[in-house]
Amino acid sequence: MSNPSLLILAGDGIGPEVMAEVRKIIDWFGAKRDLKFDVEEDLVGGSAYDAHGTPLTDETMAKAQAVDAVLLGAVGGPKYDVLDFSVKPERGLLRLRKEMDLYSNLRPAQCFDALADFSSLKKDVVAGLDIMIVRELTSGIYFGEPRGIITENNERVGINTQRYTESEIERVARSAFELAMRRGKKLCSMEKANVMESGILWREVVTEVGKDYPEVELSHMYADAGAMQLCRAPKQFDVIVTDNLFGDLLSDAAAMLTGSLGMLPSASLGAPMANGRPKALYEPVHGSAPDIAGQGKANPCACILSFAMALRYSFDQGAEATRLEQAVEKVLADGVRTADLLNEDGITPASTSQMGDAVIAALEASL
Ligand code: NAI
Ligand code: MG
Repeated sequence: MSNPSLLILAGDGIGPEVMAEVRKIIDWFGAKRDLKFDVEEDLVGGSAYDAHGTPLTDETMAKAQAVDAVLLGAVGGPKYDVLDFSVKPERGLLRLRKEMDLYSNLRPAQCFDALADFSSLKKDVVAGLDIMIVRELTSGIYFGEPRGIITENNERVGINTQRYTESEIERVARSAFELAMRRGKKLCSMEKANVMESGILWREVVTEVGKDYPEVELSHMYADAGAMQLCRAPKQFDVIVTDNLFGDLLSDAAAMLTGSLGMLPSASLGAPMANGRPKALYEPVHGSAPDIAGQGKANPCACILSFAMALRYSFDQGAEATRLEQAVEKVLADGVRTADLLNEDGITPASTSQMGDAVIAALEASL
C-alpha cells in the first residue's frame, strides 16, 4: 500500500519559515515512528502569483483534490495589496476552501499550562482549557442571496441574507457530533433561535441529528449568551457547533483565551472521500506576519499543531498527534519561547528553528 499523501502549500511571509519546521517533524515521524508520507510541495498565494500570475493554478487545485490532506502556511503580504481583487493571495485560499467544499471548520482553543499567564482572563479560568469550536464555513450570511447595496426611497440600503438549508446544517452538525464522540461527548449548539428563523431550523436539525448520537450530551445556547459564557467559564464546554457568522466571532474570541496567535491551529474538513477520510485542509490561524517575516522570529507551533490535527483527523493517528502536542507542551513548560510568547525583557527568545528543534528533542525524549 502506498503512503498517505500530503500536499504542502507553504505560501507567503512566515508561511515557508514555519513550514520548514513542520517538514523536520514530518521527517521525524517517518524515521522514528515509521509513519511515512508522500509529500509534495507547491505554491499558493503571492508566491504562486509571482510564478504563474494566479494565486492558485488549476494544477495545484487538482493536486489538492487528490491528496489525503493539504497543509497550508499563510498567504498575503503588503507587496500584493495593489493586485486586482481577482488575483489577490487570499483568493487562492478561498478557492481551495470552496472547491474542496470544506464546510466544517475546527478551531481548538487549548490553553497550555505554561502559557496561562498570557490569557487576558484569570489563570484559573483558563488553565487546562481544551475546547473545540466547529464553525460552518461555506454557507450562511457570508454567501446568502440577495446581497448588495441598493437604493431605496432615496437612500442606500445594505443587504445580506442568512440562509441555511437543512442539508447544510445536517452535515456540519454530523461532523460536530462525530468530533464530540472522540472527545468529551458533550456538544453545545449556538444560534439565535429567539430572533432568527434560520436559528430555529438550525436548532431543529441539530436536535434531529443528535438522535443518531445518544451518547452525546447535547445542549443549545443563544450565541450572545454563549459569548458571555465563553468569557465567564469556558471550561464548561467541550465541542461547540455554530454557523458561519457566529463561529467567526466566537472562534476568534475563544482563541484569545489562550494567549498568542502563534499557538493556534485549525482544520477545515469536507465530505468523506472514497477512502473514508474527509477532504481536509490544515492551517495555522495566523496570517503571513509581514512585520516579522524573514527574521527567524515566527512561532512555528501553530503550524506544528495543525499537523498534529492532520495526524488525528486525516490519518487516524490520535496517539501520535497527542505525542506531538505533548512535545509542544513540554517545550513550553521547559521555558523555550519564541518572541511572541515572552512578555518580559532580558530573556533571549528562541528562533523559529530553535523552537522546531526543541520540539524534535521533546519527541525524541518521548520514545
Ligand atoms: P497576522 O496573523 O499575519 O499577524 C498579526 C500579528 O501577529 C503580527 O504582529 C504578527 O507578527 C503576529 N504573528 C502572527 N503569526 C505569528 C507567529 N506564528 N509567530 C509570531 N508572531 C505572529 O495578521 P495580519 O497582520 O492582519 O495580516 C498579515 C497578512 O496576512 C495580510 O496580508 C493578511 O491578508 C494575511 N492573512 C492571511 C491569513 C491566512 O493565510 N489564512 C489569515 C490572516 C491574515
Ligand atoms: Mg475571523
